[in-house]
Amino acid sequence: MEIVICEDAAEIGRIAASKIIDLVRRKPTAAIGLATGSSPLGIYAELAHAVARGELDMSRAHGFALDEYVGIELEHPQSYYSVIHREVVERLSMDPARVHVPDGRAADLHSACDAYEEAIEQAGGVDLQIVGIGSNGHIGFNEPTSSFGSRTRVKALAPQTRADNARFFDSLDQVPTLCLTQGLGTIMDAREVVLVAQGEHKADAIAAAVEGPMAAVMPASVLQGHRYATVIIDEAAASKLQYTEYYRHAWNTKPERAVSAAV
Ligand code: F6R
Repeated sequence: MEIVICEDAAEIGRIAASKIIDLVRRKPTAAIGLATGSSPLGIYAELAHAVARGELDMSRAHGFALDEYVGIELEHPQSYYSVIHREVVERLSMDPARVHVPDGRAADLHSACDAYEEAIEQAGGVDLQIVGIGSNGHIGFNEPTSSFGSRTRVKALAPQTRADNARFFDSLDQVPTLCLTQGLGTIMDAREVVLVAQGEHKADAIAAAVEGPMAAVMPASVLQGHRYATVIIDEAAASKLQYTEYYRHAWNTKPERAVSAAV
């Protein structure tokens, strides 16, 4: 895992977005795994600027959302279908036909999950998966004790997750109780994973995910086994890590950075 400690949310957005910009320039049809929630908003803002300046063309890229609530109307402003279309598809001028969100309103949810896995496979797999982290360590909605081998499936949201997400709804009881989420195995199949997190309320989860044991009770710790995972966080989210001095040193002396600084 590479750990990048940033000054603020803007820097997190810039560094994470630059990975996506490089990827899409190299591979215009790249498949990007899209997270919702607050954490990736800085990334989408950076990408939107690059698109507006004519420096990035996302029109042929594919998008796959991590998750969706079960039973929520598509038009509900907090359905992930709405959020992804508002925050990502429209702002980045993506082709709506290439952007997928699990179907949380399907009559047969299990088939919808299988179809989602198939759609990812049809697109050639996810090239870069963006993830946030829940205060309980979830990625996607893979709540603590989720199997490291899990695929897209129906999951019950943890009480902590419903409480955390109540800020997006009028009241706690309006937060759905079930979701469809890419599994940890699905996320691990992405060629690259970029986790972004800000704020002190994420510090315990970040410390456990990065420096604790790999364990199903801390779903994000699965990323320790990924060949190419980057954790991009602010000082507050990094505040409970032990080895920050090393992470800063490794980032500052990274060969690619030395090369680009020299150019
Ligand atoms: C969202 C998702 C979740 C969030 C996590 C953090 O698609 O899968 O795992 O990334 O709950 O949410 P924020 O960024 O709002 O703190």
